[in-house]
Amino acid sequence: MQKDLAEKMIDAAIEMLRFSYSPYSGFKVGAALLAENGKIYTGCNIENAAYTPTNCAERTAFFKAVSEGEHDFKAICIVGGKDGVLTEYAPPCGVCRQVMMEFCDPEKFLIILAVSKEKYDIFTLKELLPLGFGPGNLKMPK
Ligand code: THU
Repeated sequence: MQKDLAEKMIDAAIEMLRFSYSPYSGFKVGAALLAENGKIYTGCNIENAAYTPTNCAERTAFFKAVSEGEHDFKAICIVGGKDGVLTEYAPPCGVCRQVMMEFCDPEKFLIILAVSKEKYDIFTLKELLPLGFGPGNLKMPK
């Protein structure tokens, strides 16, 4: 991943913090999902008074993209913090990792965890979800 592209994704994820709908936790999360064609789909977390319908920022970005016909992805950047203050990484929850597993090659898909353009780390999906269950597991044995 080129530095300027990573920085562009970090900017896009941080920009999404202002749309975070998080009146219950106060924890704002922003995500920027890079498609193979270079397009960036953004997302924020969307909470709910009934709690369980809450949607994470990463899944918002994935569902926006998939609902527009996009199925090929390169990377996602995630930022988050209480009241939108970024002090440490906001790693994706297990459900979001599983959604990534549905559409992405775990050895190639990159997850950028950032606090700022100066402080970030890049992981593969495989590093964050080793031995994940994916579409390949449902294929008929030959
Ligand atoms: N959250 C995300 O948006 N992404 C994650 O991967 C972890 C958690 C949101 C859900 C909820 O609105 C808030 O952070 C606190 O859990």
